[in-house]
Amino acid sequence: MSNGGEGMKRRLRSREWFDNPDNPDMTALYLERYLNYGLTREELQSGKPIIGIAQTGSDLSPCNRPHLELAKRVREGIREAGGIAIEFPVHPIQETGKRPTASLDRNLAYLGLVEVLYGYPLDGVVLTTGCDKTTPACLMAAATVDLPAIVLTGGPMLNGWFHGERVGSGTVVWKARELLSEDKIDYDTFIEMVSDSAPSIGYCNTMGTATTMNTLAEALGMSLPGCASIPAPYRERGQIAYRTGKRIVDMVHEDLKPSDIMTREAFENVITVNSAIGGSTNAPIHINAIARHVGVPLSLDDWESRGLDVPLIVNLQPAGEYLGEDFHRAGGAPAVIGELMRHGLIHERAVTANGRSIGDNCRDVVSENGDVIRDFDSALKKQAGFKVMRGNIFDGAVMKLSVISDAFRERYLSDPDHPQQFEGRAVVFDGPEDYHHRIDDPALGIDENCVLFMRGAGPIGYPGAAEVVNMRAPAYLLKRGIRELPCIGDGRQSGTSGSPSILNASPEAAAGGNLALLKTDDRVRIDLSAGTVDMLVDGAEIERRRSELQDAGGYQYPASQTPWQEMQRGDVDQLSDGMVLKSAVKYQRIASK
Ligand code: FES
Ligand code: MG
Repeated sequence: MSNGGEGMKRRLRSREWFDNPDNPDMTALYLERYLNYGLTREELQSGKPIIGIAQTGSDLSPCNRPHLELAKRVREGIREAGGIAIEFPVHPIQETGKRPTASLDRNLAYLGLVEVLYGYPLDGVVLTTGCDKTTPACLMAAATVDLPAIVLTGGPMLNGWFHGERVGSGTVVWKARELLSEDKIDYDTFIEMVSDSAPSIGYCNTMGTATTMNTLAEALGMSLPGCASIPAPYRERGQIAYRTGKRIVDMVHEDLKPSDIMTREAFENVITVNSAIGGSTNAPIHINAIARHVGVPLSLDDWESRGLDVPLIVNLQPAGEYLGEDFHRAGGAPAVIGELMRHGLIHERAVTANGRSIGDNCRDVVSENGDVIRDFDSALKKQAGFKVMRGNIFDGAVMKLSVISDAFRERYLSDPDHPQQFEGRAVVFDGPEDYHHRIDDPALGIDENCVLFMRGAGPIGYPGAAEVVNMRAPAYLLKRGIRELPCIGDGRQSGTSGSPSILNASPEAAAGGNLALLKTDDRVRIDLSAGTVDMLVDGAEIERRRSELQDAGGYQYPASQTPWQEMQRGDVDQLSDGMVLKSAVKYQRIASK
């Protein structure tokens, strides 16, 4: 970090475009077209920082649409602090609207944003984040380019209500679809219940992947303190947009870059905070991806060693009962970090976007509502982190212990001799279509002693990795009151789901993982204390199946439907390593090269 005070201002990279006397032809060409909508030569040659506003909102991206308005306040902040704002679009990623899955586009938006930040006359950027994959895509690009960058999230929706009860976006769908398959509600009521969970502009009001990733962006130090939790319609949202715009100009003068903020210590803070908030199982994928692009070593094992024993202190759906407005009123991320600091779990000196340490930002912040953000003594769960699971079916997968229900514990984890272990009969599905087709078929004979497996759902098998591992039980079991079966798979799970699945299994079946060799009726053993999942099939039989599969041409998955699907399949890494494009990782800190 170098400090360019008044009188010794750094020559900003935008001047290479707009004010380069050694290359008057190109300077004239670069200048003239940016003048044609009313910018003046004096402005562009003033030496003022040119600040990009990476706009993720659009009509196609309703979760991030508040940014279309917020960008005006960001511009005013940038102008007030002596910068010039240039807004540009980011490839849309709408979690609920994009087929086959929004996560296919995380790496595409990343690539696009890298090209913009590197190839245009920008000195710093405001990253407008929100819906699940928009936040990691923006942070991954900021990491690769390493221009001064700050996160402004658009904020969650207001709380949803249905018949006097809080209904959280995403989470209500899992509940409502069970009621529908049990014939307890009709189709119209189903749609109404789900719609009522989304009462205003903003993104999911649950602790799904959106609130998780934006809270973690703040814990990482990449936004102003308190930014993540402000609901989209609140006045404070516009106010923090203005302050974020002001602050990025100073960050450019201070040359405070993502690599100064996103350090190993900051990532360790993120893992701790993720457990405390009951964060999404998508977090390790995205956070590991950001770390890889900024060049900080971070592995799945770090998630268990730093995060497993941290208690759940945020009482938000799906792990708890409240929603986004409650989280904000209780103090948001700073109150969570403050409580973690009082137990020595935060690296306090990690630098944040406001130029202060995370310790100075959060030390004195306490919860304003002890039921929503709790202290350690009244934590909702003791061990709220992710357990890393491995064995002879895969090398790495995660399980979110904080969502294991009492009923699940009672059914599967109550053998006094082996309280953390259970065995069952495997029922294997090849991709989401196969599952939807066959789950209610009585011929499968699914009962409470079965373990459901989903394969063909990883980054290659289902390009981008499908959110399908949390499989509902067959309707005939639901009617008997059996709601949860153990689920395991090489895909992902929605952050709004409360299912205790073992997911993100790597390597996936389509990448040669042994999951491809598992068969329905195989016995499997899961041991939560040892962190193992094994098929009880002897080694010779596993090898026989492997050569049989190889002779048949390997694990089969559907053909690509678009050029990008094919390109990504050829270069993508596994979920445990962040699902990054392998060839992209070697490009680091490219703005200064
Ligand atoms: Fe966009 Fe949940 S669908 S945040
Ligand atoms: Mg999702």
